[in-house]
Amino acid sequence: MEVSAPAKIILFGEHAVVYKQPALAVPLSSIRAYARIEPAEGFKIVAQDTNEAHSFELETTGVENALILMARLTLEYLKAPPPHTTIFLRSDIPLASGFGSGAAVSAALGRAIASAVGQSIDNESLNTLVYRVEQLHHGTPSGIDNTVIVHEKPVYFVRGERLDLLKIGRRFKLVVADTGIKAHTHVSVGDVRRLFEQDPARIQPVFDEIGEIARTARRALEAGEIDLLGDLMNRNHSLLKALTVSSPELDHLVYSARAVGAVGAKLSGGGRGGNMIALPRQGDEELLANALLKAGAVRVYVTEIG
Ligand code: PMV
Repeated sequence: MEVSAPAKIILFGEHAVVYKQPALAVPLSSIRAYARIEPAEGFKIVAQDTNEAHSFELETTGVENALILMARLTLEYLKAPPPHTTIFLRSDIPLASGFGSGAAVSAALGRAIASAVGQSIDNESLNTLVYRVEQLHHGTPSGIDNTVIVHEKPVYFVRGERLDLLKIGRRFKLVVADTGIKAHTHVSVGDVRRLFEQDPARIQPVFDEIGEIARTARRALEAGEIDLLGDLMNRNHSLLKALTVSSPELDHLVYSARAVGAVGAKLSGGGRGGNMIALPRQGDEELLANALLKAGAVRVYVTEIG
């Protein structure tokens, strides 16, 4: 018995979303975290990474471990004792790359525990639990990662507001390229906070403009006016640069994408490393993906949105 949860990418609005501006995110269903359940003597979580397996037990591992915290929260919520189960976790999602790998692993683990105790857990409740684990990593996460990952649907996300699904009027392809540079979201989020606190009069308008871009992008996506997204992506990238969360490697991939004719390109997620996204002209996705690999991306994904 195996359950899973997808990766995610943010299309518009990262960072400003922490300050209650809207942001748009979509699941990346082809890259996932998995949890497999096997009957055993006691309860144990085994996390398999590329080279080795790490084993965690409820009694001996503290809640500062994200997996144990998720297990405890889920069992507490379900009012169930630890099941006689070993849960094996594995994930295809690169770590610290803006794909939401932590939230995806937590979501898969929560589903596996529910199944092991013979219950099911609704997405809204699971989302709340995953958010609490995200707080352990990030301090002040907006909640966008857990929401898009748990619901596995495109979302128009505003911090603290009810789930608002994003309709996609016309399917389109997007190229995602990974700089291969690991960057921790809490660092860039902390730097943006300091920037904001030092000079709110300069930074608030940047957040406001990003919010306006996200609202316009929603209308364009719903109307199927995909070509309008390119300019919005380019503008959003410039504003993220102003927030200091881009990097030479991200900028290089963004400019390389535009140089081979991408309609638009921007960094995606926390920035400083991790991923960028580029919107190809119709039919040009392979050309764009190859150009990004040549420009130094360690991985590229062509994904269909909608
Ligand atoms: O997890 P990432 O790297 O995709 O970044 C999350 C997006 C931020 O807006 C930077 C932070 C947040 O909590 O929303």
